[in-house]
Amino acid sequence: TPASNIRNFAIIAHIDHGKSTLADRMLETTATVAARDMQAQLLDSMDLERERGITIKLNAARMAYEKDGEPYVLNLIDTPGHVDFSYEVSRSLAACEGALLVVDAAQGVQAQTLANVYLALENDLEIIPVLNKIDLPAAEPERVAEEIESTIGLDCTDAILASAKSGLGIGDVLDAIVERVPPPSDDQEKPTRCLIFDSKFDAYQGVVTYFRVVDGTGIAKGDKVKFLATGKTHDITEVGVMVPERIPVSDRALKPGEVGYFVASIKSVDDARVGDTVTVVKSQSHAVSTDEAEPLPGYAEATPMVFAGVFPTDADQYNALRDALGKLKLNDAALRYEAENSPAMGFGFRCGFLGLLHMEIVQERLEREYDVDLIITAPSVVYKVVPRQKNSEAVVEKVMKGEALKEGLIQEASEEDTPTVLVVDNPSRMPDKDRQQHTLEPYVRLEVIAPTEYTGPLMDLANERRGELVDMKYLTPTRTTVIYQMPLAEVITDFFDQVKSRTRGYASMEYALSGYRESPLVRLDVMINKELAAPLSTVVHEQDAQAAGKVLVRKLKEFIPRQMFKVPIQACVGANIVASVQLSAMRKDVLAKCYGGDISRKKKLLQKQAKGKKRMKAMGKVTVPQEAFMAVLNLR
Ligand code: GTP
Repeated sequence: TPASNIRNFAIIAHIDHGKSTLADRMLETTATVAARDMQAQLLDSMDLERERGITIKLNAARMAYEKDGEPYVLNLIDTPGHVDFSYEVSRSLAACEGALLVVDAAQGVQAQTLANVYLALENDLEIIPVLNKIDLPAAEPERVAEEIESTIGLDCTDAILASAKSGLGIGDVLDAIVERVPPPSDDQEKPTRCLIFDSKFDAYQGVVTYFRVVDGTGIAKGDKVKFLATGKTHDITEVGVMVPERIPVSDRALKPGEVGYFVASIKSVDDARVGDTVTVVKSQSHAVSTDEAEPLPGYAEATPMVFAGVFPTDADQYNALRDALGKLKLNDAALRYEAENSPAMGFGFRCGFLGLLHMEIVQERLEREYDVDLIITAPSVVYKVVPRQKNSEAVVEKVMKGEALKEGLIQEASEEDTPTVLVVDNPSRMPDKDRQQHTLEPYVRLEVIAPTEYTGPLMDLANERRGELVDMKYLTPTRTTVIYQMPLAEVITDFFDQVKSRTRGYASMEYALSGYRESPLVRLDVMINKELAAPLSTVVHEQDAQAAGKVLVRKLKEFIPRQMFKVPIQACVGANIVASVQLSAMRKDVLAKCYGGDISRKKKLLQKQAKGKKRMKAMGKVTVPQEAFMAVLNLR
């Protein structure tokens, strides 16, 4: 197929607006997948994704389509739907020339619609609006078309009316892709460059790398390729296309504009990172330019925004956990982990995640696929601390601008040199507040869309969470968007739950990191039975410390089971106790009852309980359940 007959496109949508259903229908219509082979929602191939009904990992499908007697190849590149993966969304969009913007005609524009449109515009894509679910009685396509025009500034005169469910309008969608999405450019003079938009670990083949050929003479089986970000070279043992299952192509090179996969005995996805550029350095089958290939723009390493401690409930499972993390990492370049041991928790790992959803997915996969029981400590953002000394103001400025700086352990203030920046991804490592230091925390730009009647409650919530109003706009007379600058630490708590509950579920929300700001922050510690429980330490705004401490000890009292002795639970800032409660001792008769009765029955019961995977961790003489670790997530 000449490049002029290829169309590369993505589908962007807010969650649940019908992206996967539309993709399925297109595969069916183009006979890419026979109807009887259709497993609902083919593109979401991971079990966990299907269960949660969200698209996490991208994938691609090649479809054959004929229009006016001309054969076309349409490559659909699927994008993950969730904010945690916005870098991956952006790279998969970079592999396309156009995007279908799917909007639920009964719901209208939502926060993820906007976030995804911004990413598509940044990548210069031709955007085709599709108003989906018009079969629903509540659908108001005209009103939603107006909303798209007024919020995004996208002309909706040619918006397509569709029902992915019934199949209505699917032909129009396919025609529009051929007519409106520009064909890929085809520069065979340049050195070959392929953009990696996904890679995944396959138990039999090693890493499978998904790519789009951007220019050059293409890529074929037997080629020696080089990854520009890592500098590593590999020999390609298989090249092919996705229909959507992988079909090897051995008789030719994939050419500019084509989308495919290759296998090259790569062991970890870390060596085939999303966003990296692959060039061909040697080939038996086709001419290779000797010019140096420039990397394609936009490569960035995934930066974890949220960190948490991950510990096996049972110390014997430490090795199993380490192996499981190692295997998971082969398939998840964004996951970070390093060994951590704490006197309270024993041996475990400090893990970095892209966001809360990513964290939950990793936790679930560890437990399900690798069968290890875990305790996860409350997620924390990454704080930065600069000692107050000569030149420190200038360093603080640079941290706020996101410039790369010398990082290291915090030093005693010395007169001469420029201070290093302490990076704190574990609240218990936040230096004491009496030190002379600047404390900085990450901020996000947060956008919430909701019916106008909920604007008041939303603003109250944002104020409670240290939000600063940036802008407020009416999307339509009945729907409003509010934009805030807010500390990320406030967002990764139960914030989204609160947004939902205060808007009766009608709000949608998106956020992106906007930079660092200086805030007066202190470390709030917990003492259980007079012993420091470091994994329960948290960082709070100085003003909130006392109130937060009170809530924390009260909650811990609820979650921690009573012991045979009295247990004081205290919250402290430095040496000051800001709140304190007492867990009273268990009464004797309760205990007696526990141990009474038939011993074999008792054993059976214990076994049953063990199977129920009670997530508990002994800290000193006290057993602390998983819920207690998450208590710090809402201290209001
Ligand atoms: P993510 O993969 O989570 O981003 O969601 P999605 O956008 O892929 O949505 P999905 O295709 O899973 O559809 C969400 C729900 O809407 C499903 O229950 C679909 O059956 C339903 N749905 C999709 N298209 C239509 C439509 O045209 N009409 C109606 N009535 N329901 C639809």
